[in-house]
Amino acid sequence: MDSQFSDIRKEYKKGKLTRNTISENPFEQFARWLNDALHCGENEPTAMIVATVSPDGRPSTRTVLLKGVENGKLIFFTNYESRKGRQLTANPYISLSFVWHKLERQVHIEGKAEKCTPQESDAYFSTRPYKSRIGARISPQSHVISSRMEIIRAFVKEAARLTGQTVPRPDNWGGFAVTPTRFEFWQGRESRLHDRFQYTLHEEKSVSGLSCPNSEKWEINRLAP
Ligand SMILES: Cc1cc2nc3c(=O)[nH]c(=O)nc-3n(C[C@H](O)[C@H](O)[C@H](O)COP(=O)(O)O)c2cc1C
Repeated sequence: MDSQFSDIRKEYKKGKLTRNTISENPFEQFARWLNDALHCGENEPTAMIVATVSPDGRPSTRTVLLKGVENGKLIFFTNYESRKGRQLTANPYISLSFVWHKLERQVHIEGKAEKCTPQESDAYFSTRPYKSRIGARISPQSHVISSRMEIIRAFVKEAARLTGQTVPRPDNWGGFAVTPTRFEFWQGRESRLHDRFQYTLHEEKSVSGLSCPNSEKWEINRLAP
């Protein structure tokens, strides 16, 4: 069935972003905008689109929930044997996108993902609701299953097996921590003349040519809409 949506058109008028008001630090800018999203009535303000790439260079995307920003890394949790988990294990380059429609804003982040430590994954897993912990144990995420009943049976069986016990985190489930090398902040403006600022990372070199920790320098540039 053919469809036409060409008459759906909105002007974006809710805000603006300028070089004078944007933070020098992209994490600070991200924190400001995420905080706005958390308080504006957005349905899932921490939801982000995660893009990964297959070994033959084909991209794929899906939504996950951001669970924290710690020591300059963005953290999310998933099944390491899912499609995204396998792709990230083979190729850690990743792209994340947040869209906050109520604010007419989006943020893109590019970087590298690494697995969280088992201790970090355990700490988050233990805060999940009981049924989510059982679900993580029995779902072979992204693999073909015969029916919904197969998963429900596995869930009931595992819940019965673990009655009265702490539900342990399965080894194939845990966090990924993303270290960004690029941020882009986009604020919709009238007549499609949107504001866009990108931050790109340049590591400052010491005299010996070795890069020092904590000497990251972010270059900020305005981009054409
Ligand atoms: C709002 C929303 C939040 C989600 N959060 C997560 C999440 O935090 N972790 C996760 O593994 N999947 C999450 N999902 C499901 C994923 O989008 C996806 O279906 C699943 O992870 C399998 O993806 P893959 O086959 O590409 O690996 C979420 C989906 C939606 C719509």
